[in-house]
Amino acid sequence: MATDYNTIAKEYQASKMQPWRKHIEGFSLFKLTGDLSNKTVLDLACGEGFYTRQLKLRGAGHVEGVDISKAMIQLARKAEDRNPLGITYHEHDALTLVLPKKFDLITASYLLNYAKTPEELIQFGKVISNHLKPGGRFVTINSNPDYKAPVDTLYKYGFTRENKSYSEGGEIIYRFFSSDGSHIDVINYHLEKLTHEIAFKKVGLSNIQWHTIELSPEGKEEFGIDFWQPILETQPVIGLSCDKSF
Ligand SMILES: C[S@@+](CC[C@H](N)C(=O)[O-])C[C@H]1O[C@@H](n2cnc3c(N)ncnc32)[C@H](O)[C@@H]1O
Repeated sequence: MATDYNTIAKEYQASKMQPWRKHIEGFSLFKLTGDLSNKTVLDLACGEGFYTRQLKLRGAGHVEGVDISKAMIQLARKAEDRNPLGITYHEHDALTLVLPKKFDLITASYLLNYAKTPEELIQFGKVISNHLKPGGRFVTINSNPDYKAPVDTLYKYGFTRENKSYSEGGEIIYRFFSSDGSHIDVINYHLEKLTHEIAFKKVGLSNIQWHTIELSPEGKEEFGIDFWQPILETQPVIGLSCDKSF
């Protein structure tokens, strides 16, 4: 069953406080975005704005966020009201998005893994390509199609990952635990790396590269390298970047 973020918006927001988010997920994402100075950025599947705000705080000139979930966008707008950064949020399906402008950079942490079929992935790719300026870049952190470890491998970081199958469109269940023992489930879908590469080439994106996730020096210092070994060895999530030609 598809994940309804309207019912788990606050719990998902809380899961972003898990240390691996900052020290591995965020560190790896911002390594891919590179220098943001004065760039115009579109953050697809922005959720409650966790990375959207960081994009602006790290120097982007103009940032917009898009998410399909009303509750997630409400949380993002509340944060914007509390601490205005000049970010515009749109409640919209990224599969059918048409904005009247193009961006230097598009980010999307955990959007592509909602494509259930190669056709949906191509449609996400078309929307990304249509909203990039010539010479623009797309970067994402996403479920790693090649992850094969046992379900509980990542439990100590606050989550588990279970692939129901490795066929195209097969379900991946992420379970995020909170300190009181309760949990939420998020369902993603498996599509092979090659399916991503074919889809992006088809929509005019080039220089498609996969990037392993890495640990921040602060995370290593704070927790020690042994703590991070299982997640670094098994790579549950992965970076992807590609360019729009001039
Ligand atoms: C795992 S959350 C990630 C949120 C945010 N990027 C982050 O890293 O905190 C995935 C988000 O994708 C959004 N989403 C799923 N399908 C979408 C679609 N077709 N268009 C736009 N947003 C979508 C969900 O509503 C949810 O907020």
